[in-house]
Amino acid sequence: MAGDNEDEDVQLEARLAEQDSFEPSEEFVEQANVSDPGIYEEFEENWPDCWEGAADLLDWDEEYTEVLDDEDAPFYEWFGDGELNAAYNCIDRHIEEGRGDEVAIDWVGEPTDETRTYTYDELYEEVNQTAAAFRELGVEEDDVVTMYLPMIPELPIAMLACARIGAPHSVVFAGFSADALATRMKSADSEFLITCDGYYRRGDALDHLEKANEGLDDVDHDTTTVVVDRLGEEGFGHDLGEDQLDYADLIADHEGAEVEPVTRNAEDMLFLMYTSGTTGEPKGVKHTTGGYLAYTAWTTHAVLDVKPEDTYWCSADIGWITGHSYIVYGPLALGTTSVMYEGTPDYPEKDRLWEIVEDYDVTQLYTAPTAIRAFMKWGEEYPNEHDLSSLRLLGTVGEPINPRAWKWYYKHIGDEECPVVDTWWQTENGGHMVTTLPGIGTMKPGSAGPPLPGISANVVDTNGEEVEAGRAGYLTIDRPWPGMLRTLYKNDDRFIDEYWREYSDPDSDEWVYFPEDGAKIDEDGYITVLGRVDDVLNVSGHRLGTMEIESAIVGVEGVAEAAVVGGDHEMKGEAVYAYVITEDGHEGDEDLRKGIVAGVEDAIGPIARPEQVVFTDELPKTRSGKIMRRLLEDIANEEELGDTSTLRNPDVVSEIQQRVQND
Ligand code: WT7
Repeated sequence: MAGDNEDEDVQLEARLAEQDSFEPSEEFVEQANVSDPGIYEEFEENWPDCWEGAADLLDWDEEYTEVLDDEDAPFYEWFGDGELNAAYNCIDRHIEEGRGDEVAIDWVGEPTDETRTYTYDELYEEVNQTAAAFRELGVEEDDVVTMYLPMIPELPIAMLACARIGAPHSVVFAGFSADALATRMKSADSEFLITCDGYYRRGDALDHLEKANEGLDDVDHDTTTVVVDRLGEEGFGHDLGEDQLDYADLIADHEGAEVEPVTRNAEDMLFLMYTSGTTGEPKGVKHTTGGYLAYTAWTTHAVLDVKPEDTYWCSADIGWITGHSYIVYGPLALGTTSVMYEGTPDYPEKDRLWEIVEDYDVTQLYTAPTAIRAFMKWGEEYPNEHDLSSLRLLGTVGEPINPRAWKWYYKHIGDEECPVVDTWWQTENGGHMVTTLPGIGTMKPGSAGPPLPGISANVVDTNGEEVEAGRAGYLTIDRPWPGMLRTLYKNDDRFIDEYWREYSDPDSDEWVYFPEDGAKIDEDGYITVLGRVDDVLNVSGHRLGTMEIESAIVGVEGVAEAAVVGGDHEMKGEAVYAYVITEDGHEGDEDLRKGIVAGVEDAIGPIARPEQVVFTDELPKTRSGKIMRRLLEDIANEEELGDTSTLRNPDVVSEIQQRVQND
C-alpha cells in the first residue's frame, strides 16, 4: 500500500539523516579493483617506488630506470628516462590485445535521436586520419594545438591525434569567451586552432565560430584554423576565412592513413590546461606524458573501480581537467567504454541522465555536487522512472558536498548499494588526491576521506604546524606525486610563487605544495575540505578568479572601481557578487548593470555572470587601503559582520548592507 511505503520512506530518511558513516557492501568489496587495506602501509614503506604499480598499467617503449628524480625540486621528474606514447596507450594496445571491436566512446548527442559509437578499431582509424591531417597542416612535435570545441567526438579524437604526433593540446572550454580564447592562444604561442561552427544548448543552435573568429581577431601571430561542421543544415552559413579549413575536407584526404605513434619522453608535455588564479592572468598548467597518464590510469582503476568491461560515465565537460583525466585519458588507458554526453541534465526532460544510465547500462557515474543539488531540487520522481540497477559506484568532484546531498545521491541514485567517492583534487594535481578507496574505506558524508595511498596531505596552521583534529587549518601536501603539474607554462617563477612559497623551506630542501584550500581533519585522518582561501571562487564546481572578473567590470564604461566576492548560493555553491563604484557622471542604473553583466560574459563567459551587482559610493577599506573582502562576503551572505574596527570608513558598511537588502 502507498501509505506503508510512505511510512517506510519517512523512517528511512530519518535513519539516513542520523547515520554519519557508511560501509561499502560486501558484494562491492568482493569485486573491487583494490580491497586490501594494507595498501596504505605498503605504499608508505615503498615510497616512491610504490608508484611503479601505476606505471605498470601502461605500455612503455623504453622502460624508465628511476621512479622519482627530486634533484631539482620542486621541479620533480617522474619515470624521467622512460619513453611512451599516450595515444598508443589509449588505443593501439587494446586492439593488439584483440579488443578492437569493443566500444571506446559511446557518444550521446543533445538531440535525442543522435548518437555515435566508436569501437577501439574505429577510434584508431579516426585518430590516425586526423593525426595525418594535422601533420599535413604543418603541426610538428611540441607545437601547441588549441581546441575550442564543445562535447563532440571530434574533441577527444583531436586530443588523441595530437598525443599521437607529440603535439601538446590546450583545450579551452567552449563556454569561455572570445577573449579567454585569445589570451590562451597568445600565452601558449599556439598557431593552430580546432573549433566548430556551432553546437546545441537546450534545443537551440549556438553560433560558436563567431566567437572563435572574434578571439582570433585578437591573436597577432599567424594561425591556421580547422572548423568541424557540427550543425550541418542548421548551421549559420559562415564562410570560412583564408586560413580556415573544413575538418571533413581536411581528413577526407587521409582516409586509411596510419601514423606511427611518436615516442615521447615521460617528462614531455602532454597538454596545457589554463586555470584561474589570484591574479588576472590565467595559469598554464603543464602536464606530462608519463606521470600524468600513469596517475590518471591508476586512480581510474583504484578510485573509480573501472574495469575494461564497464560502461563508465563522467558527466563533466572535457574542457575542464575532470574531463581530460576521467573521460579521455584515464578510462581509455584502461580500455573501458567511456560515455560522453553533449547536452545538459534537464533537456529535453529532467530525467535525461537517468534515461542514459538505463539505456547504456552505465556502471559508474561521476558527477558534481552542483548537479546533485539540482537533482534533489527536481525531486526523486525523475530517477525513480528509470532502472538504475546497472550502477555499481558513484563519484563526485569539484566542490564540497554537504551530507544531505551526499545521502540523497547515495539513496536515490545508488539505492544504498553503491559506494560514493567524494574526490578532492585540482587541475594542478592531474588526478584524485583525497578520497576514500571504495573497496576499503568507511565513507563519511561531507568528508572527502583520507589522502590516497602514497599521498601525504596535512592540515596545518599559518606556521605550517599540524592542527588538532577538528580544527580548521590549511591543506598542504608535503610529498610529490606522479600526476602533479611540472610547472606553469614558460613561467617557472610563478610556479614557485603560487604553489611552493608559502610553506616550503628551500634552505633545507623541504618542499610543501599549497593548494590554497582550507580544511579540517578528524581523528581518523579524514579530511573535510572547506573551500578556497585565496581570491578564487568556486561557482558550480568551476574555478573563477575574482581579479579576472573585477578587471572585466572595470573595463566597462562608467565603472570606476569594483570588488568581487563569493556569496553562498543554493545551487551553484558560490555565486558572484559585484560591488561597483561608478565614475562621476554615471548612474548606477539598470543599463549599467546590464553593461556590467555583458562585460563579464564577454571577458570570461556566462559562468562568471554576476548574481548581483551592488552600486556603492565607497568600498570598505583598511587604513592601508586594502579592500576588506571578508566584510563584503558577510554582506552578500547576510551574515553578522566580522570585526569592522580596522576600517578606514566604517559607515560605508551599513550603507552597502541597506542597498543589498533593498535589491
Ligand atoms: C578546487 C580545484 C579537480 C576537478 C574539478 C575542479 C575544489 C574540488 C573538491 C571536493 C571539496 C573540492 C577545491 C579545489 N574542490 N574537488 N571533492 N571537495 N572541494 O578543479 O578547477 O582546479 O578546482 O575545487 O577548492 O582547490 P579546479
